[in-house]
Amino acid sequence: MKKYFLILLFIPNLALANPSHSDNIIDESKATFALHPKKLNWEFEGFFGRFDKASIQRGYQVYKEVCSACHSLKLMSYRNLQDIGFSEAEVKQIASEYLVTDGPNDDGDMFERPALPSDKFAPPYPNEQSARSANGGAYPPDLSLIIKARHDGPNYVYSLLNGYVDAPDGFDLANGKNYNPYFEGRQISMPAPINDDGQVEYKDGTIATKEQIIIDVVNFLQYASEPETEQRKKMGVRTMIFLGILLVLLVLAKRAIWKNVK
Ligand code: HEC
Repeated sequence: MKKYFLILLFIPNLALANPSHSDNIIDESKATFALHPKKLNWEFEGFFGRFDKASIQRGYQVYKEVCSACHSLKLMSYRNLQDIGFSEAEVKQIASEYLVTDGPNDDGDMFERPALPSDKFAPPYPNEQSARSANGGAYPPDLSLIIKARHDGPNYVYSLLNGYVDAPDGFDLANGKNYNPYFEGRQISMPAPINDDGQVEYKDGTIATKEQIIIDVVNFLQYASEPETEQRKKMGVRTMIFLGILLVLLVLAKRAIWKNVK
C-alpha cells in the first residue's frame, strides 16, 4: 500500500517537468511573460574560463556587418581590437574606414576626419532621437554593456537572437513589432537580425550557420562587456595555486616547529 502512496507523490513533479503539460494550461496567445533563456556552455564561464579569440573576431565581423547598422558600441575603441587578435596595421585600416566628428578647429567649427585607433567606435546615429525615428520610436540600446545589463546576459542574448518565431494565433501583435517569447512582453521592435545560414561570410573559413553567427556575436559582446574576464580568471587560478603551496609550506613548518612538543 505504502508504495502506491509514494507514486502519488511523484505525480505533481511529473506535471512540472513535462512542458507539454504546462502548454495545455497556458494559453500561448495571451502569454506575455518572457521565457527563461536556454542554457549554453560558454567557454568564458567557469573557473578556468577563457576567451575563444577566433569566435570573438568573427563576432566582431557580425557586429560590424549586421548589428552596427542600428546599435552603437560606445565603450569600445578601435585599438581594443588588437586584444582580440587583429594586428596594429589591421586596426589602423579598420579605423580609417569610419568618420568621426572632431574639433572645434581654429575657426571654431566641428569637422569630420577618418577615425584613429584611439577613437571610440563610431555610432550609427548622431543622437538618440535620430536612432528612435529610424526604428519606429524604439531605441536600439548601446551594446557595450548589454551582457552585464541583462540577467543571465550571454544566454539571454543568444536566446533572444535565436528566439524569433511566428506569433501564436490570436496574439495581439502591435504594428511594427515582432514576436519573440524571450523578450519581456513578447513584442520587440527589433526585426530578427540573424535569419539565415551564410548571412555573414567568414574570412577564416568557418561555416556560418545561423547558430554559429549568434554564438560568435555573443562571444564578442561578452568580450566587449567584460574584457578583463580572462585575466581575472587566470589571476584566480594563480592565487589558488599560490595558496595551495603556501598551505603545504605552513603545514610542514608547523610540524617542524612542534615536533619536540608532546
Ligand atoms: C534594424 C535595426 C537593428 C539591427 C540591425 C539590430 N538591432 Fe538589436 N535592437 C534594435 C531595436 C530597435 C531594439 C529595441 C527593441 C525594443 O525595445 O523593443 C533592439 C534591441 C536589442 C537588444 C536588447 C533587448 C533587450 O533586452 O532590451 C539586444 C541585446 C540587441 N538588440 C542585440 C542585437 C544584435 C546582437 C544585433 C546584431 C546581430 C542587433 N541587435 C541588430 C534594432 C536593431
